[in-house]
Amino acid sequence: MSRRDLVLGVLGGGQLARMLAQAASPLGIRTVALDPAEGGCAADVAMTRQAAWDDWEALQAFAEQVDAVTFDFENVPAATARWLAERVPVYPPPAALEVAQDRLSEKTLFRACGLPTPEFRAIGSKDDLIAAVNGIGLPAILKTRRLGYDGKGQFRLRETADLEAAWDALGAQADTVGLILEAFVPFERELSVIAVRDRQGGFRCWPLTRNWHVDGVLSLSLAPAPQVDTALMAEAMGHARTLAERLQYVGVFALELFVRDGQLLGNEMAPRVHNSGHWTIEGAVTSQFENHVRAVLGLPLGLTTARGQAAMFNWIGEMPDRGAALAVPDLHWHDYGKSARAGRKVGHATICAAEPAVLAARLEQAAQWLQREAQAEPAVSLLREA
Ligand SMILES: Nc1ncnc2c1ncn2[C@@H]1O[C@H](COP(=O)(O)OP(=O)(O)OP(=O)(O)O)[C@@H](O)[C@H]1O
Ligand SMILES: [Mg+2]
Repeated sequence: MSRRDLVLGVLGGGQLARMLAQAASPLGIRTVALDPAEGGCAADVAMTRQAAWDDWEALQAFAEQVDAVTFDFENVPAATARWLAERVPVYPPPAALEVAQDRLSEKTLFRACGLPTPEFRAIGSKDDLIAAVNGIGLPAILKTRRLGYDGKGQFRLRETADLEAAWDALGAQADTVGLILEAFVPFERELSVIAVRDRQGGFRCWPLTRNWHVDGVLSLSLAPAPQVDTALMAEAMGHARTLAERLQYVGVFALELFVRDGQLLGNEMAPRVHNSGHWTIEGAVTSQFENHVRAVLGLPLGLTTARGQAAMFNWIGEMPDRGAALAVPDLHWHDYGKSARAGRKVGHATICAAEPAVLAARLEQAAQWLQREAQAEPAVSLLREA
């Protein structure tokens, strides 16, 4: 490095680190991603270091190289985050990361902040599970408290007979990552708030995002979420703000919400940039990635206003053929450069338009060429009604 650029350190070297680096670059900020695994897709666009989470020598060198440290995934050991925070600014603060790493402490915090959640119970044994099923009722979902992502580490119980299978599948993890039983919520819709808080306490939200999941994995997002009244919007953003202030949060985070009978329930919080905020790259004045970089490095935040209407498709397992899709106006292709593997997020595409009706037409066209009509259908009809 010839001149003294600002350098952002990222723990984890996957697609989120990659998109953070892509947003940092035009600001004159370099990115170094540290990951215990080799070959993360951030390596195409950022400097990378391969080191274990407890390789203190490598972490010391990393800390000396960067101006601030952030995360591309939330399961970095809290001890690593705390150790680094003694040497260099770490945002979000390790204490906030720790709360969000554990579904039990996260939901407990939601309730303490006045955000209702689905009924839940901590599960330490099979007897706990039986008692919790009796207390909460069925259907319910047994989840690992820690380390779950993309619907992994979850078992859905429909009837009492499923109890054995649920315990066989996850019981062994009761003593390691912990378990939680949650009531299954027959929600009308899923929304997320993508929000950012800076080092001075300045707070901004992007417009709400409507999300559709398939097998527990995000499939499609639509933003700004159509048909959300201003009261619900203000309530959702108010909850995000309360949480951010309680955690003295710095950076971008996502608050995932269910809407049932018009009421908001807190599902979980992701202490990082989030898949349901990828549309902000082309669909908002400032993307979640750029504002996260700005917040973490103490720079002023950019506007979070939407430019129009946006829809984002996730590509799971393998990238579809981009050929025809690129002909759709205002479609933006993101190939993370990962090898194909079942269930893996390998890329996404965002389609933008000034008007909902125009986006509906573009989305339908893209979905047809990409053979994703079924997934696009609910978003297309919502856009047509808007
Ligand atoms: N209690 C619930 N009731 C109804 N649906 C649920 C419940 N919990 C999870 N789901 C469904 O499964 C999806 C994934 O669950 P959750 O957000 O808990 O898992 P995750 O593995 O952390 O996912 P991700 O990393 O994609 O956010 C939710 O977005 C929702 O669609
Ligand atoms: Mg989730």
